[in-house]
Amino acid sequence: MKYLVFEKEKIMRKRLSAGARKTVRTAAVFAVAFAVTFAGGARMAHAEIDRVISAEEWRALYPEIVESMESNSDNNYRISYLDEDPYLTNVYEGYGFAIDYTSAVGHTYTLEDVHNTQRPHPLANCLTCKSPNFTKLVNDLGEEVYSYDFEETWAQLDESISCYNCHANHEANNGELVVTHQYIADAVGEDIAGINPATMACGQCHIEYYFDPDNKATRSPIHGLEGITPESVLDYYNEIGFTDWVQESTGTHMLKAQHPEFETFLGGKHAAFLSCADCHMAIVSKEDGTTYRSHKWESPLANEAILETCAKCHQGTDMAEFVHGIQEEITAKEREVGEALSELKDTLSAAVEEGKLSEQELDEVRQLHREAQWFWDYCYVENSEGAHNSELANRCLDTSAQKIAEAMGKLKA
Ligand code: HEC
Ligand code: HEC
Ligand code: HEC
Ligand code: HEC
Repeated sequence: MKYLVFEKEKIMRKRLSAGARKTVRTAAVFAVAFAVTFAGGARMAHAEIDRVISAEEWRALYPEIVESMESNSDNNYRISYLDEDPYLTNVYEGYGFAIDYTSAVGHTYTLEDVHNTQRPHPLANCLTCKSPNFTKLVNDLGEEVYSYDFEETWAQLDESISCYNCHANHEANNGELVVTHQYIADAVGEDIAGINPATMACGQCHIEYYFDPDNKATRSPIHGLEGITPESVLDYYNEIGFTDWVQESTGTHMLKAQHPEFETFLGGKHAAFLSCADCHMAIVSKEDGTTYRSHKWESPLANEAILETCAKCHQGTDMAEFVHGIQEEITAKEREVGEALSELKDTLSAAVEEGKLSEQELDEVRQLHREAQWFWDYCYVENSEGAHNSELANRCLDTSAQKIAEAMGKLKA
C-alpha cells in the first residue's frame, strides 16, 4: 500500500473513525467504496474509510465528471515568465522565482510540475495544494507533516488535485463541498458562512499563503474577510516581521505574493452573485436531457456554454474583446511598474555599495522597496490579469508606482 497514513493507521484510527463514518452515508457510496477497498486489498472495514477515495474509484458513479476532470490535461501550454518579462530575473534576484517561473497549467499536472520545478523545494509544505493524499495526511497527522522531506513524501502521493480536495469523500452526496484545507477555514473564520461554497472550494488553493517560520506549516495571512485586502495582509506581514527572503544586493527583506484569485475576486464586482464555478465550470447537457458540472477548469472565454451565461448581464458585449481589453491595459502597466522596480533595485544596491547613506536611511528605502514589490507582485501573480477585479489591479500597481517614486526620491536626494 502506497498511502502513508496506513503506516500510522493504528494511532489515527480512533480519532478518525467518528468523522470517517459520517462520510460514508449513502448506499451507493457504500457499495463503491466497499468494492474498491476490497479490490485494493486494504484491511479496513468500509465504514471506516480513512483514506482518500480516488477519482478512479468514483468513475463508475460519475463517469462524465471524472472524464471532464481528466481533460484538464488538455491545458498544458507553458510559457516561461522569465523569457516573457526579463526584468523578473532582477526583481526576484536571490529567490527561486528568478531561476524558474513557468505559467500554470491544468490541475492534472500538479505533482509533475512541483517535482520538476528548478526552484528549491526541500520540504513537503510545497505539496499543500498539489494532491488530496497530502491534504489527508495533514488532516490526519497534523502540522508536523509540512516539515517532512519533500522527495520522500512526494513519492507516496497517488493523485494530483482530485475529488477529496473539494468534497472530502462525500461526492455521492450530490457533490457536497467540504473545506478540507483546514488552515484556510481557520483564516476565514466565521465569515465562511457568507461565502459561496463553490468559491470557497477554489479559495483553498487560489489564495496567498506563507510558511510559518517556526514549524514550516502552510498558513494564510488573512483574518476574516475584513483582513483580505493586500493592504491588510502587508500590515500583518510587517507586524509579524515576515520575510520570504533577504535580497543580498539590496539588503531588503522581500515578500513574494502568490496567486490571490480568491481575495481579488471577493473584492470585485461579481462576488455578490457569482461563484468561481459559475465562470470556470460549465454546466453540460447530456443526451438524456440531464446536466452535470464539467470539472474541466478553464477560461470562460474558451467555453461556449459558459460564455452564454455572461449574456444575462453583459448583453451585446463581445466578451473576449471586453476581457482582453482589460488584460492588455493591466499587463502593460505591470510591465511598466515592474521595470521601474527593477531600476529601483539597481539604484538601491548601488547606494548600498557606495555607502554614502546611513543604515537608517537605507532601511527606509528598503521598507519602501519591500512594499512596492509586494503591491506589484500581488497584481502580477493574480492569474486573471485584471479580469477578476480591474480596480484592485490598478490600485496595486498605482500604490507600487507611488512607493517606487518615493524610494527613488530618497535615493537621489
Ligand atoms: C488543491 C488545490 C487547488 C484547488 C482546490 C483548486 N486549484 Fe486550480 N490550480 C491549482 C494549482 C496548483 C494549479 C497550477 C497547476 C500547475 O501549473 O501544475 C491550478 C491551476 C488552475 C487553472 C489553470 C490555470 C492556467 O493558467 O491555465 C485554473 C483555471 C484553475 N486552477 C481554476 C480553479 C478553480 C475554478 C477551482 C475551484 C473550483 C480550483 N482551481 C481549485 C490548485 C488548486
Ligand atoms: C465572472 C466570471 C468569473 C468568476 C466568477 C471567476 N473568474 Fe476566474 N477568470 C475569469 C476571466 C474572464 C478570466 C480570464 C480568462 C482568460 O484570460 O482567458 C479568469 C481567469 C482565471 C484564472 C487563470 C486561468 C486562465 O485560463 O486564464 C484562474 C486560475 C481563475 N480565473 C480562477 C478563479 C477563481 C479561483 C475564482 C473564484 C475565487 C474565479 N476565477 C472567479 C472570470 C471569472
Ligand atoms: C477543485 C474542486 C473540485 C474537485 C477537485 C472536484 N470537484 Fe466536484 N464539484 C466542485 C464544485 C465547485 C461543484 C459545483 C457545486 C455547486 O454547483 O455548488 C462540484 C460539483 C460536483 C457534483 C455535483 C454534480 C453536478 O453536476 O452538479 C458531483 C457529483 C461532483 N462534483 C463529484 C466530483 C468527483 C467525483 C470528483 C473527482 C473525480 C470531483 N467532484 C472533483 C468542485 C470540485
Ligand atoms: C449576474 C450578472 C453578471 C453575470 C452573469 C456576469 N457578469 Fe460580468 N459584470 C457584472 C457587473 C454588474 C459588472 C460591473 C459592471 C460595471 O462596473 O460597469 C461586471 C463586470 C465584469 C468585468 C469587469 C470587471 C472589472 O473589475 O473591471 C468583466 C471582465 C466581466 N464582468 C466578465 C464576465 C464574464 C466573462 C462573464 C461570464 C462568464 C460575466 N462577467 C458574467 C455582472 C455580471
